[in-house]
Amino acid sequence: MTSAEVRQSFLDFFRQRGHEIVPSAPVIPQDDPTLLFTNAGMNQFKDVFLCQGTRPYRRVADTQKCIRVSGKHNDLEEVGRDTYHHTFFEMLGNWSFGDYYKREAIGWAWELLTGVWGLPKRRLWATVHHTDEEASKLWREVTDIDPGHILRFGDKENFWEMGETGPCGPCSEIHIDLTAGGCDPEWVNAGRADVIELWNLVFIQYDRKADRVLAELPAKHVDTGMGMERVTAVLQSKPSNYDTDLFIPVLEAIAVITGRTYRDPYQVPMRVVADHLRALSFAIADGAIPSNEGRGYVLRRLLRRAARYGRQLGMEQPFLYQLVPTLAKVMGPSFPELVERGPHIQRVVHSEEESFGRTLSRGLELFEQVTGRLRGSSSRIFPGVEAFRLFDTFGFPADLTELMAREVGLEVEMKEFQALMEEQRRRSQLAGKLRLAEGETSEWQIIREGEHSLFTGYQSLRESARVCQVRRQGELFQVVLDRTPFYAESGGQVGDRGVLRFGDVQSAVLDTRKEGDGILHVVERLPDDLSCEVEALVEADLRLNTARHHTATHLLHAALHRVVGEHARQAGSLVAPDRLRFDFTHFEAVRPEELERIEAMVNEAVRGDLAVETEVTRYDEARAKGAMALFGEKYGDRVRMVTIGEFSRELCGGTHLRSTGQIGYFRIVSEGSVASGVRRIEALAGEASAALIRQEQRVLDDLRRVFPSTPIEKIPGQVQALLEDRKALERHLRKLQAEEAASGIGDLVQSAKELDGLKVVAARVEARDGEEMKSLGDALRAQLGRGVGVLGAVIGEKVSLIAVVTDDLVREKKLQAGRLVAEVAKMVGGGGGGRPHMALAGGKEADKLEEALAAVPRLVRNMLCS
Ligand code: ALA
Repeated sequence: MTSAEVRQSFLDFFRQRGHEIVPSAPVIPQDDPTLLFTNAGMNQFKDVFLCQGTRPYRRVADTQKCIRVSGKHNDLEEVGRDTYHHTFFEMLGNWSFGDYYKREAIGWAWELLTGVWGLPKRRLWATVHHTDEEASKLWREVTDIDPGHILRFGDKENFWEMGETGPCGPCSEIHIDLTAGGCDPEWVNAGRADVIELWNLVFIQYDRKADRVLAELPAKHVDTGMGMERVTAVLQSKPSNYDTDLFIPVLEAIAVITGRTYRDPYQVPMRVVADHLRALSFAIADGAIPSNEGRGYVLRRLLRRAARYGRQLGMEQPFLYQLVPTLAKVMGPSFPELVERGPHIQRVVHSEEESFGRTLSRGLELFEQVTGRLRGSSSRIFPGVEAFRLFDTFGFPADLTELMAREVGLEVEMKEFQALMEEQRRRSQLAGKLRLAEGETSEWQIIREGEHSLFTGYQSLRESARVCQVRRQGELFQVVLDRTPFYAESGGQVGDRGVLRFGDVQSAVLDTRKEGDGILHVVERLPDDLSCEVEALVEADLRLNTARHHTATHLLHAALHRVVGEHARQAGSLVAPDRLRFDFTHFEAVRPEELERIEAMVNEAVRGDLAVETEVTRYDEARAKGAMALFGEKYGDRVRMVTIGEFSRELCGGTHLRSTGQIGYFRIVSEGSVASGVRRIEALAGEASAALIRQEQRVLDDLRRVFPSTPIEKIPGQVQALLEDRKALERHLRKLQAEEAASGIGDLVQSAKELDGLKVVAARVEARDGEEMKSLGDALRAQLGRGVGVLGAVIGEKVSLIAVVTDDLVREKKLQAGRLVAEVAKMVGGGGGGRPHMALAGGKEADKLEEALAAVPRLVRNMLCS
């Protein structure tokens, strides 16, 4: 059975049992701040379990792209060293939302594994939570598993939680025995590669709250997850996941590129590379980009680990990116995003590899030096300060250093490393701005039960409503209404503002946000009585101006595709009343002439006054009609499609104009880079672009006044010419000044005192800066013949001093300009020094300058005598 057949037969099995088959959600979660990456199939249904959202089906199945490298579920350490953990894997899952429960979940799992796929029953083991009598009984009742193969475990093994908070419940796992001679019950859950978990059936009944309390959910659900790579290996009778058709082509490509065979000592590095390549490619395909924080940093770490393992395969140059097409060939049929965004993934990976490649060798050298030193000693501790240096100077993530240290039997002194990190953080925090915390949130207070947050704001900006829930957040309150015209921040569009009127009490809505299906109005105050009717009023001007920028964003996106190409996909956006910001994938700067064409194209569409139409339709229909779906966006079954004439068609939930003419005028303000492979355009529409034109007009009017007889288009040339004239004049002026100073210096030398056959000059001069002091010093030294000189000037409020000694005196008398100037500077409350023949100094007390200069002959005499 090929892996594609395994996947398909799983989905078919559950389709036949009334399950809707849905696409995998992106591996980058869209609106769950508690998660960096999608780590389980149930993530996309979290809101259903928590009663915050609904779906048009109660049974569903899919294969979900998962990444487990951080947080509660983190398999990174195992990857490559064993044969069955991955950073990226597919989770085959089936769900019931308050529909079927344990009986069906257990029965079907057994039927699929043993009936359809024919796995030997004697090799399967079931585990249940030690308190779950029901599951234990059902295993005996609905399957013919050997009752001796039903084992009980505690919370650690048989209570599944999504993260620190969220849906959870007891679970029942199915393990397979791959040993040669039969499995001992003790070997289940013992971390052995030959007795592994295949499938986890979770019976979701609780919500884990932030205070760790378990709250009972109103309905009971089923959430299952089976490791696609593992089950494929078992069904293909392969000794490891890496030996299946999911990995073989990638490992072969690695072998070709590196010239190494998939055998010890290259086996582990090759597995790590293959594994990390998958995680990186899928995450980048779904819109993530390596960076220095959050999920971007996790990607960076993965790439750096892979690059370092690449070194063990002899790869000094970027090579991971070359593997992307092979991966796309393997996974593309099920996940077409890898093919569509292949070139983008390659570019991002390549540029990351290149930038790390620059410091990798030097970092490895440092690592070798440290371990070399340790080899001679009895210490097994890799110093934290060196790990920090590897991190700070060479970009080695701490876990990479730890891993390398472990390979040579050392342990990184992480406490010291953390302390240094903390110190650095404090320093940079002091340098930057401290972000204000938003304040604690309290639990929701339910005012009215039932449906809430019906959004009516596409049609109207005003609504009579009732309060359903409220909670406090810091100094502010969040209010959920039964129905509301307020648009909650999403898809880049900022939340609406306006007011809520509770009878006589009026409260400004400062922002509107989304949480699950809930629309949260952020307000400053609330009346005591929340049972009355509320009038919700959206601020119309802000809404209209926001819509101008939103519709303009769609036009910009479409124009970008036409001018720079289809690969320029949205990677982020901000739609505000006063501006728009649009991030997209593109590997070089958009050229000025391209920007001009884009802007012109959008304005052409504005002048065409194209109708903006919205339609709610099925996802596949919308895609068939050519609607652009966004990078990594999660779409439900029904989608809203926004069509602008023949110009643009996108899936979008935002609020738009009636027609493009309302944009007024569209203007690009800037184009730049935000991350490798991602560019940003900032632009204005409506009143904001008109204001910009007015501002620019004022500048032009001023220029016209300054150059009354020059045609406007010639002014830049004129300014350029003036700047050049000015430079020439400055040069000329400096020359004259130097000549003048030299002649002044000549007079000083003429009237200089003689002291034991050498000339001593000490004089006050005029100068504008240190540079001029230096040229005066040069002139003096040149004219002195044989002598010593000190010049002083007051520049601003401060004293500037220069001392010179001619070469012969430096040689014969050991006179030193540095020492002399330091002595003089002391007398004007300052200090300084320099080389023996010329030295500069400064001081604060300008009124002591004359006195100090008068002391020069004495100082010189002292120095000659000493
Ligand atoms: N959500 C369960 C898991 O990830 C099925 O194991």
